[in-house]
Amino acid sequence: MTNILCIGAGYVGGSTMPVIASHCPEDRFVVVDINEARIAAWQSDQLPIYEPGLDEIVRQTRGRNLFFSTETNRHIAEADIIFVSVNTPTKTFGQGAGRAADLQYWEKTARQILENSTSSKIVVEKSTLPVRTAEAMERILNSNNKGLHFDVLSNPEFLAEGTAIQDMQKPNRVLIGGRETEPGQKAVARLVEMYAQWVPRDRIITTNLWSSELSKLVANAFLAQRISSINAISALCEKTEADINEVAYAIGHDERIGRYFLRASVGFGGSCFKKDILNLVYLCEHYGLPEVARYWEQVVTMNEYQEARFAANMVTSMFNTVAGKRIALFGAAFKANTNDTRESPALEVCRALLAEQADIVITDPHAMDNACYDLKELAARVTFEPDPYAAARNAHAIAILTEWQQFAQLDYERIHDSMVKPAFLFDGRNLLDHEKLYEIGFNVYPIGKPPLTRLVTYGFRNA
Ligand code: UDX
Ligand code: ADP
Repeated sequence: MTNILCIGAGYVGGSTMPVIASHCPEDRFVVVDINEARIAAWQSDQLPIYEPGLDEIVRQTRGRNLFFSTETNRHIAEADIIFVSVNTPTKTFGQGAGRAADLQYWEKTARQILENSTSSKIVVEKSTLPVRTAEAMERILNSNNKGLHFDVLSNPEFLAEGTAIQDMQKPNRVLIGGRETEPGQKAVARLVEMYAQWVPRDRIITTNLWSSELSKLVANAFLAQRISSINAISALCEKTEADINEVAYAIGHDERIGRYFLRASVGFGGSCFKKDILNLVYLCEHYGLPEVARYWEQVVTMNEYQEARFAANMVTSMFNTVAGKRIALFGAAFKANTNDTRESPALEVCRALLAEQADIVITDPHAMDNACYDLKELAARVTFEPDPYAAARNAHAIAILTEWQQFAQLDYERIHDSMVKPAFLFDGRNLLDHEKLYEIGFNVYPIGKPPLTRLVTYGFRNA
């Protein structure tokens, strides 16, 4: 039996460990966190994160070979392998503020591991980190005079929220980076063996430490770049009557480009993309590569433009003012099937409309609590309404900001009847049937397609 510890019970630790535990019944897994409320929630029936399939797998494994605890020090002492998935937010102070990763929790964890260890261990970086973080980690850990040896591995997480369990059950690849020394390669082999319990061997990629660390940042930068690219073209489509879905379909069928991640939207959100790209930008600057830094920075700039453009289009279309108008925002989560609102474009659009003094009501099937927390400084000016029909009642406009399937199944005739006329619908996810909405009587504004409206278009096309 191997004792496996995961430090950090957030989205990453909390969704990966139950899956690994379910495939390695011989081993014992403990997930710890400093946040007592979070651990209490992991031990209850109300898990702290919403992720399809997670409840079931936690029910199967918890109490059998998976345990949640706040006693980090004791479990460090017992562990053979330690996964570290503590948060590495963007620095808000000092050198690199707003871009570099804040590694304070990371370093504290390394020191805590060292202090409480009485045997040699494998330490696995699970969080996304700047390339060469493992070097600092090794220095701290191996600075001991207890005769202990630590092997640091990089095993970045590629799962996406909303499909995290599915992604872990059938990963398209698992990446493991380690030192090219004998003990380093032995540690890599140990981790390969663990994943090989359920992942086909040819999907487990092993590399050197730095390639693994950097690949995670690069994967997210490339994915985000595709969305910014298609969103940039959506703006051009709106000026030229090209249709973004047709363009995406046409280019996506070029096998060299491929069809995934070409859905034009109000913008990308989530805890990873912006943070990781800015981290990459900072690293490029650090290594004296300003042109490379500017190239990647533009991906984030383009995303901010898309969010701002969406909100500005709403104002322009609604006769250049939304002051005092009730607007229903359908969706707060950064994408469907998650309660996560970190960097959600929905909240950016909300803030922009509040700045125009709109009267905002938000509805979302799972993310209302998080949205309410994120918008707490604006709480007095936002209403939260679980029922989308009630949210839309007496509204001048609806904006679809998260692609929840629930929103596609609503009765839009009923909704239209209850709204102020002319009724506007801005579809930031191209989720709905626009022709049908137009027939019902809505003025419909999709992303990257000409609007369907009976009104004179104000400054929207050819402006
Ligand atoms: C991402 C990566 O996919 C994952 O591999 C990494 O480990 C963490 O970051 P996640 O943030 O959960 O995962 O969401 P993802 O599905 O990648 O979507 C990110 C954002 O892009 C969402 O706001 C989504 O709505 C948006 N998106 C995605 C688009 O706007 N268009 C697309 O075509 C795809
Ligand atoms: P991610 O999406 O990367 O999982 P989260 O912020 O959801 O990020 O989770 C990180 C978790 O790590 C948080 O629950 C936080 O309380 C926890 N954490 C941070 N530092 C420590 C530490 N030193 N020991 C234990 N847990 C920690």
